[in-house]
Amino acid sequence: MKPNLPIFMVVASVFLLACFIYIVGFPFSRSGALHIQEIVLNSNGEEMGNRNEECDLFTGNWVFDNVTRPLYREDECKFLTAQVTCMRNGRKDSVYQNWRWQPRDCSLPKFRPRLLLVKLRNKRLMFVGDSLNRNQWESMICLLQSLVPPSKKSLHISASLSIFKFQDYNATVEFYWAPFLVESNSDYPNTHTVSDRIILPQSIQKHGTNWKNVDYLIFNSYIWWMNTPSIKVVHQNSSEYEQVEREAAYRSVLNTWSKWIEKNVDPNRTKVFFMSMSPLHIKSSDWGNAGGVKCAEETSPIVNTTAALDVGTDGRLFAAAASVTSGMRVPVSFLNITRLSEYRKDAHTAVHTIRQGKILTPEQKADPAAFADCIHWCLPGLPDTWNELLYARIISSS
Ligand SMILES: *[C@@H]1O[C@H](CO)[C@@H](O)[C@H](O)[C@H]1NC(C)=O
Ligand SMILES: *[C@@H]1O[C@H](CO)[C@@H](O)[C@H](O)[C@H]1NC(C)=O
Ligand SMILES: *[C@@H]1O[C@H](CO)[C@@H](O)[C@H](O)[C@H]1NC(C)=O
Ligand SMILES: *[C@@H]1O[C@H](CO)[C@@H](O)[C@H](O)[C@H]1NC(C)=O
Ligand SMILES: *[C@@H]1O[C@H](CO)[C@@H](O)[C@H](O)[C@H]1NC(C)=O
Ligand SMILES: *[C@@H]1O[C@H](CO)[C@@H](O)[C@H](O)[C@H]1NC(C)=O
Repeated sequence: MKPNLPIFMVVASVFLLACFIYIVGFPFSRSGALHIQEIVLNSNGEEMGNRNEECDLFTGNWVFDNVTRPLYREDECKFLTAQVTCMRNGRKDSVYQNWRWQPRDCSLPKFRPRLLLVKLRNKRLMFVGDSLNRNQWESMICLLQSLVPPSKKSLHISASLSIFKFQDYNATVEFYWAPFLVESNSDYPNTHTVSDRIILPQSIQKHGTNWKNVDYLIFNSYIWWMNTPSIKVVHQNSSEYEQVEREAAYRSVLNTWSKWIEKNVDPNRTKVFFMSMSPLHIKSSDWGNAGGVKCAEETSPIVNTTAALDVGTDGRLFAAAASVTSGMRVPVSFLNITRLSEYRKDAHTAVHTIRQGKILTPEQKADPAAFADCIHWCLPGLPDTWNELLYARIISSS
């Protein structure tokens, strides 16, 4: 016969629980959901990440941290292209490298390159989209490459598909150029017209063939839509084009894209991600610096996250991407980087970049109104954080 639990033990338990809550705090969040950070270890005792499904990683603020940031050094990653090596290109301030994204309700898991490479063993990870996704692809290579000696890694660049290979892991980190996702007259990475853009909103097969059998697919598409309020569209089997308003055209492309994903992606094998749009910083009065020149003179992020902020991002396209990706049969992880990037007016390449393959001349650098690039980002820099967010999602996935 089992003895009854002695009453003093019950009293003691209640007392201990009360002490625990008093000292540690009640382990529930405002929403009432259980909110304990659980560090999950795999069989090798490595940290598998922070299983914090409830936590919104995208609401938070930038914290100055020159101890853990940057995650790598510009001169240690020879794979960076001259477009993004701001210090080498003459940028004087480096504090833009010293900011860490701090979600409000939890912390991002520490980026462990080895853990990600183990996860990518015998697998392919591919970024698909425009030059901002290429920016992020370069960042990912730099975050991972230092683990591997020179003879065990290689970079192969071709017209549309660039492949970085980690030999010992049989893993690749790839970038596929498709700035509109569907076919367009901008599909050649190096020769394309800027002013006259034409898309074929139903034609995705030609690009999609290259996305098959990839294990991690990371899409984006934004900047190329922003030139004109409407875009030239050619329908299937037609030789005429029609001028279609930006949002409507974007939605029809996302529709084509989501149908392709539903039909061709096996969610048991492939994880799909969509990066929300990367913002521009063109008008310095948007953040209260009326005397500024675009993003060119900015050296610190916006830290007041309660003040209203509008840097001209087309929220209609953001909403379209958020809603299309949330309603699909194949789960798509929407990485909401837009707002946290809007704070980073300091992180663009500005005049410390190239134009037509050449570093800007001193004369060009002296004329930021004409030459500053307030679209792309220095590396190390903001895209490393995008990859930390992607990492958090990849590591916590099965
Ligand atoms: C994206 O994140 C911002 C905070 O960074 C938040 O205000 C916004 O509601 C989020 N949007 C979506 C669709 O998740
Ligand atoms: C980090 O920043 C602090 C405060 O600005 C400064 O005193 C310190 O020298 C910096 N450390 C490094 C390694 O740059
Ligand atoms: C290497 O990776 C590729 C691409 O993911 C895969 O198809 C192949 O089976 C892998 N090779 C080995 C020996 O596992
Ligand atoms: C376009 O033409 C092809 C071949 O003639 C045909 O199979 C297809 O149905 C047509 N598509 C549309 C939208 O008319
Ligand atoms: C994915 O795996 C589950 C469980 O093994 C299986 O029931 C399901 O049919 C698979 N789905 C596809 C699309 O293969
Ligand atoms: C942040 O912005 C809000 C709204 O504009 C303002 O009330 C507040 O004083 C600002 N906080 C700081 C620290 O500047």
